[in-house]
Amino acid sequence: MTQRNCCSKRITIAIDGPAASGKSTIGYYLAGYLACLYLDTGVLYRAVTWAVQDQDIPVEDETRVTRLAEEVNIEVLPPTESDGRQYTVRVAGQDVTWELRSPQVERAVSPVSAYRGVRAALTHRMREIARQHSVVMVGRDIGTVVLPDANIKLFVDASAEERARRRYLELKQKGKDVTYEEVLKGIRRRDTIDSQREAAPLRAAADAILFDTTALDIEEMMAAATRLVKSKHDRIGAIEGAEHGQV
Ligand code: DC
Repeated sequence: MTQRNCCSKRITIAIDGPAASGKSTIGYYLAGYLACLYLDTGVLYRAVTWAVQDQDIPVEDETRVTRLAEEVNIEVLPPTESDGRQYTVRVAGQDVTWELRSPQVERAVSPVSAYRGVRAALTHRMREIARQHSVVMVGRDIGTVVLPDANIKLFVDASAEERARRRYLELKQKGKDVTYEEVLKGIRRRDTIDSQREAAPLRAAADAILFDTTALDIEEMMAAATRLVKSKHDRIGAIEGAEHGQV
């Protein structure tokens, strides 16, 4: 959670969408624009998954995984290092920000996040944050389950091929030895689990604005997101006020 400048009147923006759709880029940008907190909720599921693996708990052991999700100390803080991170994540005091992106966590996070008890524990933490702060919250079920009364809801999507292309370039830039086909397969696998699970499946809320980023680069995404948010919000003045820290 990156706290920039808390608004005096609370505003909540829910952004959902599949992996590599551009939702985090858009959310991070809008949080800066509106001077709100930014919370990428995927890191909470990743942090629980990391802790499960760290404690050698079998991912299939739903009872132990759920208990851990209820008890583990997860902190999402403003960046503590200048290494390109948007936030620092600590689990039981240990900086695990980059480890949360490892292939081991990537493989196990979808099954962990499918457990109802895990979702209940993390949803509770997310709602507590939104109760206290203006926030742009990004995830899979924010508009449908976590914050059904959010002021603005966006559902960000892009074709699986384009999302795989983005993730592949990102991984290559970090020097990872992967093929495009492997990345595409991983994206499709996670899409299937995330959208077909029983508990809070990935889907757009009925009142969400659908935002397809397939043909957009980062600059275009941000410009389009700003226009959408401005046009959707009833009180455009309130948003412009937020830009100046008044909302
Ligand atoms: O956005 P991400 O790739 O970091 O998310 C990691 C996993 O967490 C993903 O498989 C779906 C799950 N997730 C979820 O189920 N609900 C959320 N609100 C956020 C993430």
